[in-house]
Amino acid sequence: MKILNFGSCNVDFVYSLDHIVRVGETESTKCMEIFAGGKGLNQSIAVARAGGEVYHAGCIGTDGVFLKDLLEQSGVDVSYLQTVDAKNGHAIIQVSAKGENSIFLYPGSNSMITKDQIDAVLSRFDAGDILLLQNEISNVEYLIQRAHSQQMLTVFNPSPINETVSMIDFEMLSYLILNEVEAQEISSCETTEEALTYFRTHYPGLRIMLTLGEQGCVYADAERELWQSAYRVKAVDTTAAGDTFTGYFVSGIAQGADCMETLKLASAAAAIAVSRKGAAPSIPTREEVLSRLAGLPSGNSKNCKTEQLRHEIEQYLEQHLRQANLQSLAEQLGYSAVYTGALVKQLTGVSFSKLLQAKRCRAAADMLLQTDLPIAEIIHAVGYENESFFRDLFSEKYGKTPIQYRKKR
Ligand code: RIB
Repeated sequence: MKILNFGSCNVDFVYSLDHIVRVGETESTKCMEIFAGGKGLNQSIAVARAGGEVYHAGCIGTDGVFLKDLLEQSGVDVSYLQTVDAKNGHAIIQVSAKGENSIFLYPGSNSMITKDQIDAVLSRFDAGDILLLQNEISNVEYLIQRAHSQQMLTVFNPSPINETVSMIDFEMLSYLILNEVEAQEISSCETTEEALTYFRTHYPGLRIMLTLGEQGCVYADAERELWQSAYRVKAVDTTAAGDTFTGYFVSGIAQGADCMETLKLASAAAAIAVSRKGAAPSIPTREEVLSRLAGLPSGNSKNCKTEQLRHEIEQYLEQHLRQANLQSLAEQLGYSAVYTGALVKQLTGVSFSKLLQAKRCRAAADMLLQTDLPIAEIIHAVGYENESFFRDLFSEKYGKTPIQYRKKR
């Protein structure tokens, strides 16, 4: 599974100020620095530093050659990055003493990505490969349509949010990675919970990764909701924290990593990025994240206890997919079976047996797409003896028989 990131590359002009300048106000900056940035570039570097293999496609201007060099030095494949005869895209960023930022963009070379370039690059990728996108380049809508038509998995980060996002068909996306403000704007909902329900109801096939700043983050798909609290650090510069999270998350998807582990790593990486200046330079490597993880204090999450229990249930099911049963889960949690059954229902919205069935179907679906194992073997591997029972269950859940589902590849 290859990762292609079709995204922006910016030169970031960063001005440190006491506070973000208000309308009509003039302030002298304490310091001005130039960094490599752009949501696309930052996310490619984050994928690579997280240990993923990534191709970065897009356009840089004649003054942006150092951006290409940095991508390459960071382990990103730049074969599909073009140089155009124009000014590179850039960002003017104010950073306050509290680490908050305010950004405006000059799109430049990032607005010169053409449909022909997209066709040429996408023809080098296959069904099942990942296309990662943000909203800082031209022809995003076309990219999504093309990737969908060739059955790539599309991960969309609708940032910065603007009218382009309203033209996107979310049915064509596999993952949506967004923050609270973006979620509320797209869904027209006021709270996180309502926004999550909106996405899950309107786009049942879409996997949502919602970042909540100091409140952590939540991953949701048709079967589960996984919460992770944020790590607490002194904020120096929040620029690229979201990009760092996204890159780590996408790298985790591509590597088939445990979702909860991925959320933890991505959150820690984002926290480390917040504690340092600049966009690309602030993104830590996987080794650094792993070595600092134990020492990073967890912040408050309003859902911490619930999140922990959900995590334990998820982990139990993942580790005991074939032999899972309510009694042994209850023993592991230290509760009675009756109480555990009620708890599972309360935390996940479905009974233990329905949750287990969903989990087994999901594991089988992944194996159907990612392996060539015979279907009978997959059914056995996920814990069913009775093949026809599983086939009915699977068809009910995915609207396709296992054979038809495998043809999606
Ligand atoms: O997400 C941070 C990035 O947004 C900056 O690097 C800047 O270039 C803007 O694109």
